[in-house]
Amino acid sequence: MKNILVIGATGQIGSELTMELRKRYGNAQVVCGYINGAEPKGELKESGPSAIVDVTDGNAIEEVVRTYRIDTIYNLAALLSVVAESKPRLAWKIGIDGLWNVLEVARSRGCAVFTPSSIGSFGPETPHVMTPQDTIQRPRTMYGVTKVTTELLNDYYHTKYGVDTRSVRFPGIISNVTLPGGGTTDYAVDIYYAAVRGERFVCPIQEGTLMDMMYMPDALNASIQLMEADSQRLVHRNAFNIASMSFAPETIYGEIRKHLPDFEMVYEVDPLKQAIAESWPDCMDDSCARNEWDWKPQYDLESMTKDMLEKLTARLKGVK
Ligand code: SER
Repeated sequence: MKNILVIGATGQIGSELTMELRKRYGNAQVVCGYINGAEPKGELKESGPSAIVDVTDGNAIEEVVRTYRIDTIYNLAALLSVVAESKPRLAWKIGIDGLWNVLEVARSRGCAVFTPSSIGSFGPETPHVMTPQDTIQRPRTMYGVTKVTTELLNDYYHTKYGVDTRSVRFPGIISNVTLPGGGTTDYAVDIYYAAVRGERFVCPIQEGTLMDMMYMPDALNASIQLMEADSQRLVHRNAFNIASMSFAPETIYGEIRKHLPDFEMVYEVDPLKQAIAESWPDCMDDSCARNEWDWKPQYDLESMTKDMLEKLTARLKGVK
């Protein structure tokens, strides 16, 4: 039986991943690890165990892992790209010192570890179209520096100590439950909220700027499917390119307008976000993930948009 700890379980991905893991493995089997000030609420709180787990505190991680006999850790604690630029030291402390703590506990207690990387692990010299799995990375952002380091440290713990580390490079994740905070790709979430509220959307990313994006259900499936994959088939580990759709602001705007023809968007480009976006891939080649663990996304821009608008409309009207 699996006993799972999710660190960062009240964040954008963590809040939905925890619920999905509980659905698949049983409520009592999945511990929601959160920090002070980001307590779980509602269903997330009520459906299973929770514990305070600050990733920067190795002893706290060790204690929860021991108490709940954890064998798998999903470590989602991180600052996103824009915030990390204003708090680089904290980004490193959470992303890398924190990862070190997680890996040390995993090494001593035999846990498997999933810690996501990102499209942010690539940089301006990376081939931008069909970015290969193995290629130059050299990111310029602190977020990217921590993500490349995450990949390397994960691989190191696997080859040196045999820790079962696995990871994906997430595109921008689009979801309708918990908002992301301080990422470059957040506009692709915010645009849906503006559309459903009937507000004009001010887009911080310039027309024509392509980035990989993914709908949350596919991101959750990818994470769980990779952790379940047959290790004999894995040539790579940290971290797999995964892709499902790539679009520029005008394309997602056009898709939303098919449903809400009066929706308006204007551009007010944020120079920091724009520079970060331009340094990231236009679209990644995810054939290694497809070949090594049968990765296959379910959603494209059209089906995601339909679902996002339906769910958000129901939520904003107070219907669940
Ligand atoms: N969504 C992240 C960001 O924009 C990228 O992985 O920072």
